[in-house]
Amino acid sequence: MNRRIHSASHLRGEISVPGDKSISHRAIMLGAIADGDTKISNFLDSADCLSTISCFEAMGISFEQDRKQNTVIVHGQGMHGLTAPSKVLYTGNSGTTTRLISGILAGQEFGSLLDGDASIRKRPMKRIMDPLHKMGAKIRSVRGNDCAPLEISPSVLHAVDYVSPVASAQVKSCILLAGLYADGCTTVTETALSRDHTERMLRGFGAEVTSQKTLSGWQAGVTPCSRLNACDITVPGDISSAAYMIAAALIVPGSEVLIRNVGINPTRCGILTAVRQMGGHVEILNERYAGTEPVADLLVRTSTLHGVCIEGEQIPTLIDEIPILAVLAACADGTTIIRDAKELRVKESDRIETTSKALRAMGVWVTPTHDGMVIEGGAPLHGAVIESRKDHRIAMSMAVCALAASGPTTIKDADCVGISYPSFYSDLMQLSL
Ligand code: S3P
Repeated sequence: MNRRIHSASHLRGEISVPGDKSISHRAIMLGAIADGDTKISNFLDSADCLSTISCFEAMGISFEQDRKQNTVIVHGQGMHGLTAPSKVLYTGNSGTTTRLISGILAGQEFGSLLDGDASIRKRPMKRIMDPLHKMGAKIRSVRGNDCAPLEISPSVLHAVDYVSPVASAQVKSCILLAGLYADGCTTVTETALSRDHTERMLRGFGAEVTSQKTLSGWQAGVTPCSRLNACDITVPGDISSAAYMIAAALIVPGSEVLIRNVGINPTRCGILTAVRQMGGHVEILNERYAGTEPVADLLVRTSTLHGVCIEGEQIPTLIDEIPILAVLAACADGTTIIRDAKELRVKESDRIETTSKALRAMGVWVTPTHDGMVIEGGAPLHGAVIESRKDHRIAMSMAVCALAASGPTTIKDADCVGISYPSFYSDLMQLSL
C-alpha cells in the first residue's frame, strides 16, 4: 500500500504513543518462562510483538490479549515449562524476537527451527551464534550463510565472560537469557552501553543481575536461576515512536505538541540529547517511574535547528532514531555529521543507503559514508516518491519529512509502519487537524 502525505501548516495537541517495542518483546519472553501470570499493560500490539507471542504459543504458552484495554496476560510455565514447538518458529521481520529467543531456545531440552521474512533472512546472526557456541550451544545456520533459518539443538550451557565486538542489546540480551540456563555466572561486556531493558526487567522478575563499568567496557552479568517470579509490567510509551512526533513538531512551523508517558531510559533517549544539541525545544515534564523504567511527558515546540556531530557512545542510545535525526539535520542550518553508526547497514534495511536515497529524492544534499552520513541542512525540500524498502523507520521518517516539503510525497509500502507503530498515520493526522 502506498500513502500520499501533504505538507502541514502546524501541529497542535496532545498524544500518547503506543507502548515500547523492546520492552513489550521482553515482557512476553520473561513472562513465558516465569512461574505464574504476568500482566502486561500498555502492550505494543504491533506485528513484531505479535511474532514473539506466536513463537511462544507454538511452544505451549497461552496468552489473553485484550485489545481494547491494551493488556496481555501471559500464563507463564516456568524456566523448563516450554514444550517442543509444533512448527517452525516464525519471527517475521523482528530481529529482537530472532536474537533474544535464540538465547532462551539454546537452554531448552528440545530442538527448534527459527525463520523469518526476507529481511530477517539477510540479517547477521553470527553475532549471537559465536557467543552461544562459546557457551556450548548447538546453533547452526541452515544455509551456512550465518543468517536465518537457524536450527537449535539441545545442549548443556556453560557460563562465559563474553566481550562483544558490537554494542548491541540484542546480542547482550541473547547471552543473558542463555545465561539463565548456564552452570555459573555469565557476563557480557560491550564498549558502549546498549539499552538495558533486559537487565532491568530480569531484576523485576527476581533474577540476580549485575551492571558495572569495568576497564574493558560496560559489563552486565546474570546468575543462573531455577525460577523467575511472574510480575505486572506497565510498558512506557516508545521513545522511538515518540521521536517522529517530536521531529514533526520541531520542523513544522507554529507547532506545539505534548507527548504523554514516554520512556526516557538514559540508554534509549539519545534523541532528546541530540535534539537539544541542535537547539530544539523539548521540555521533559512530570518525570516518574513505570515499574523499573523512567517515563516523562515531553512538550515540543517548533525550533530553529543547527547542524551537529553525533558519534561514539551516543550512537547506541539513538540507533533506531538516526533516520529521523537525518530528517532533522536536513531541516537544520549547517552540516550534520553522523559517524560510528555502521550498525545501520544491518538493520531492517541498510539504513545509511535507504535514508540517503530517500532524502536525496526530496532535495537534500547528503553523502553516505561507510559508517554514517554527512547532511547539508537548509536546502528546500520538495515532495517525491519514496521507496521505504518495507522498513518501518524509513516510512515514518520520510512521512514526517513530507510535512515540511512543498508538494505531496508518496511513501511506497507505507503499511510497513505496522511493524512498530500501527496508528502512526492517524496519530500524525490527528495532530495536524
Ligand atoms: C533492540 C536493539 C537494537 C535496536 C532494535 C531493538 C532491542 O538492535 O536497533 O530495534 O530491543 O534489543 P541492536 O541490539 O542490534 O543494536
